[in-house]
Amino acid sequence: MIHIHAICHDDLADIAALHGGSWRSAYRGIYSDAFLDSDAVVQTRQALWTRRLISEPSLGSFGFIARDPSGEALGFTFAFPAFDAQWGSLLDNLHVRLDHKGRGIGRQLLLALSERCAGEWAELGLYLWVFEANTAARAVYEHLGARPAERMVITLQDGSEAAEWRYVWPSPGELLRALRREA
Ligand SMILES: CC(C)(COP(=O)(O)OP(=O)(O)OC[C@H]1O[C@@H](n2cnc3c(N)ncnc32)[C@H](O)[C@@H]1OP(=O)(O)O)[C@@H](O)C(=O)NCCC(=O)NCCS
Repeated sequence: MIHIHAICHDDLADIAALHGGSWRSAYRGIYSDAFLDSDAVVQTRQALWTRRLISEPSLGSFGFIARDPSGEALGFTFAFPAFDAQWGSLLDNLHVRLDHKGRGIGRQLLLALSERCAGEWAELGLYLWVFEANTAARAVYEHLGARPAERMVITLQDGSEAAEWRYVWPSPGELLRALRREA
């Protein structure tokens, strides 16, 4: 049984650890091994989540964390509502612990997030950025009805270059329907 909770400051350390761990596996071959194997990965994730949850929270930003009954953190997602005038709300993170992937946790997290967006920002689009090389995550988003809208090449914090794609749903309701298998 998985419990989904709204993210609060107390989740900071668990989220930073999950985020760093997920980068080390999912982004292998995208970031350099030197960067992924260094302490910088977890340190930069800790700094990011300290800003997001404590020192500089963005107005309206929110997320959900999945925990097992013992309280162990298994995955999280985060969003910035009404972030972009054209594309709508930004789904900025979705990570499930490597040893718990493929068990429906990502689906439950996206369900919580899209229900909230559909309740408060129903008319806006919903979008995310995913690395071109992250074919597994792209397949999940396509399975859930997102469409690739544009490609961009960016320079990563370790100096590597990588292509990423903007995936979009016209509204959070579209994602919700796919998650509820109504689409
Ligand atoms: C991408 C990720 C978040 C998905 O979470 P998950 O818990 O593994 O996914 P779920 O088990 O909830 O599956 C969600 C849906 O996608 C489908 N799916 C999963 N993997 C798939 C694949 N490779 N191809 C197509 N569909 C896939 C599942 O079947 C499920 O749909 P269904 O319920 O209709 O069968 C997770 O695998 C992950 O953390 N990956 C590493 C980090 C990452 O790349 N995050 C995305 C950054 S943009």
